Amino acid sequence: MGRTFSRLALLPLAVIGLGTLASCVDETIVFRDRELFEEPLAAANSFLGYTSTDDKLTVCGNCHIGPQGEWEETAHADAWNGLQDSGHAQPFCEGCHTVTELGNTVTEVSGHSATGEERYQDVQCESCHGPGLTHVTNPEDATVPMAAMDVGLDLTQGCAECHQGTHHPFAEEWTESGHGSVIGYPAGRESCEGCHTGEGALEMFGVNTVYIEQETVAQDGEHLAITCAVCHDPHGSDHSGQLRFPIDEPSEELNLCMQCHQKRGTPDPTSFRGPHSPEGPTLLGTAGWWPPGLAQPILSTHGSTDENPRLCAGCHVNSYEIDDQETGEFLFNATGHRFEATPCTDAQGLLVEGPCANDEKTYAACTDCHSEAVALQLVDQAELSIEADIAELADLLDTVETTMPGEFDDSDARYTVAEGSRFNLELAQTPGAVVHNPFLIRALLDASIAEMKEEYNLP
Ligand code: HEC
Ligand code: HEC
Ligand code: HEC
Ligand code: HEC
Ligand code: HEC
Ligand code: HEC
Ligand code: HEC
Ligand code: HEC
Ligand code: HEC
Repeated sequence: MGRTFSRLALLPLAVIGLGTLASCVDETIVFRDRELFEEPLAAANSFLGYTSTDDKLTVCGNCHIGPQGEWEETAHADAWNGLQDSGHAQPFCEGCHTVTELGNTVTEVSGHSATGEERYQDVQCESCHGPGLTHVTNPEDATVPMAAMDVGLDLTQGCAECHQGTHHPFAEEWTESGHGSVIGYPAGRESCEGCHTGEGALEMFGVNTVYIEQETVAQDGEHLAITCAVCHDPHGSDHSGQLRFPIDEPSEELNLCMQCHQKRGTPDPTSFRGPHSPEGPTLLGTAGWWPPGLAQPILSTHGSTDENPRLCAGCHVNSYEIDDQETGEFLFNATGHRFEATPCTDAQGLLVEGPCANDEKTYAACTDCHSEAVALQLVDQAELSIEADIAELADLLDTVETTMPGEFDDSDARYTVAEGSRFNLELAQTPGAVVHNPFLIRALLDASIAEMKEEYNLP
């Protein structure tokens, strides 16, 4: 077989009448003195649930000790108690808080919703992977119960089957976000996949795994968007929110968002291209073309974990309640999964697609630190503070372009003051740049203006 299962603990498999797995010689073998599972009721539809409900040992987790260990620490493993302790538990709540047909490819009523048995309490492995009877009875067979990476908005599988609805519309918001599509992605360009496709991102993150869409993604040139399980580790992690990387590290190497949002923050002198997702380096104060004499970095307020512990997510991933502006009645919980810091709203207070004027946006995401009114004022001020510089630099660049076109010769090896200044102008104009780091953007614009005047003898 040529594969090792270092994360598997193999059992005395005769207990459940399996063949031996003699070919797997180098795993840890864990002997347990109890049966893996009791035969499930026919109505359960081959779902197995817990071996032991008390210590939350899933049947799967007897062998897959890695995922079992991580999963035990997650909210999924406590979903039943969470529901009961809420004081609002009703039968119709149970489907998403137990092992059922929700979250996997099974569509008929199964597991807990068919039997009400304790062994199916909580969101277990099979909630996402589907029923395991066939696999567990013969693990060497090719019939591995795989989970979906895709979000499953058709509501037949995936995280969306549970993480949707007015109380937690993660899936609905995500679909409307930039991460919910792969529109910017030019087909077939491998160098772009790591950040622009879900499967590419998993590879870039070093996640070597199997999932339902893997074959189609590889074969048909189809692509996964930046789905839930790209950012969240479905089995659990040491970071908040089960994220694969932390959000509270001011570092391009470590921060979740900065894994991708840092493609070109500083100019690549061999390319005429401008900034490309420069948000990470802008927040950290290193982005831009730096004329001599400017000392790096120029730190931003919100790039400091003292001022803004959750960094990018502190503004872009926040949940808050949306109430009807007129009646004050609860409409829904925004989950922050549009990833917009200040989304546009309509008169009722509902989030709508932009663009829109600053005063038509909601600043609810900022209210841990600023009132909505102050946040709006600060944004207006930041934008105003670079308006004149932007106009002046654009004029200078126009003058040079008409009188000295050679200064913009992208094919020569020379990286001119004009080319550097053009980069800085484009950086200042990327959406959000001046909120991300007004000090940096102002310093770069000022330095570019001074350099342009000196280099090209302009008034
Ligand atoms: C009796 C031990 C045993 C149990 C219980 C078990 N598995 Fe497995 N599982 C295996 C073995 C062995 C393999 C490797 C088989 C192969 O690749 O052909 C495997 C492979 C897998 C894989 C593919 C992993 C990979 O890297 O290719 C998934 C996914 C999986 N199992 C999920 C589950 C789920 C979900 C359950 C519970 C319903 C479960 N397993 C229960 C032994 C077990
Ligand atoms: C069967 C329904 C179901 C499926 C499928 C499901 N979840 Fe959940 N999830 C829940 C429930 C219920 C909770 C809340 C448990 C609690 O707090 O009591 C939860 C909690 C979470 C949390 C932690 C929230 C917190 O407050 O700490 C994360 C993160 C999460 N889910 C991500 C995912 C991802 C990613 C997927 C898909 C790979 C997924 N879930 C699939 C039902 C589900
Ligand atoms: C459509 C699936 C679904 C249904 C139905 C559902 N829940 Fe949940 N529930 C979830 C998900 C997903 C989460 C995690 C949401 C999050 O982290 O924001 C959750 C979380 C919770 C939590 C934990 C919140 C917390 O802050 O830890 C409680 C309590 C809860 N639900 C109670 C209920 C009650 C009571 C009902 C029935 C009135 C219900 N749920 C019905 C999917 C569902
Ligand atoms: C919230 C949904 C969800 C739950 C719960 C879940 N998985 Fe997974 N599982 C996935 C997804 C999605 C993948 C593919 C992405 C990945 O590996 O991170 C996966 C991959 C796997 C794999 C193959 C890769 C690997 O990590 O070895 C195994 C084995 C596995 N899961 C076993 C389990 C077991 C055992 C449990 C319960 C202890 C479990 N899963 C619980 C969604 C889930
Ligand atoms: C290091 C990660 C990374 C790589 C590699 C990468 N991109 Fe991007 N790209 C991003 C991020 C993040 C955004 C969105 C942020 C933004 O709009 O500022 C983006 C935005 C874009 C957009 C604009 C999309 C829109 O909706 O506005 C285009 C077009 C694009 N990239 C093309 C490419 C091409 C072509 C390649 C390969 C040559 C590539 N990208 C490689 C991270 C990357
Ligand atoms: C681009 C990355 C990204 C994607 C994609 C993403 N999330 Fe999140 N999610 C986050 C971040 C960041 C947080 C905030 C975590 C924190 O503050 O600890 C979060 C929070 C959550 C929480 C609440 C966790 C908690 O501890 O309260 C749930 C539940 C959740 N996400 C589910 C989903 C689901 C379901 C999807 C897909 C529809 C999804 N996420 C897609 C980044 C992402
Ligand atoms: C796996 C790579 C990846 C990760 C991780 C990631 N993003 Fe993105 N993000 C992208 C890409 C690619 C786009 C552009 C999608 C498009 O327009 O085609 C994007 C778009 C966005 C946009 C919308 C830009 C637009 O043009 O609409 C925002 C805002 C954003 N990301 C914020 C975040 C935040 C905050 C985090 C961390 C919680 C994060 N991203 C994590 C790749 C990523
Ligand atoms: C002070 C709050 C704040 C922080 C911190 C922050 N942003 Fe922003 N960001 C904004 C605002 C405000 C905008 C303007 C548009 C909007 O509301 O989305 C914006 C715009 C963006 C855009 C362009 C969206 C579009 O519509 O094209 C992307 C992408 C982005 N931010 C990603 C990030 C990333 C990645 C980080 C962390 C490196 C980050 N932001 C940190 C507030 C913030
Ligand atoms: C975790 C706290 C925190 C959050 C969340 C936060 N800010 Fe700030 N912000 C600060 C602090 C601290 C300052 C500096 C002191 C001041 O001006 O109030 C600041 C200053 C600013 C400034 C002035 C320029 C600068 O960078 O110092 C702008 C503009 C701004 N914030 C916009 C926003 C917007 C827009 C949001 C929401 C999308 C937001 N902030 C969310 C803490 C925060």
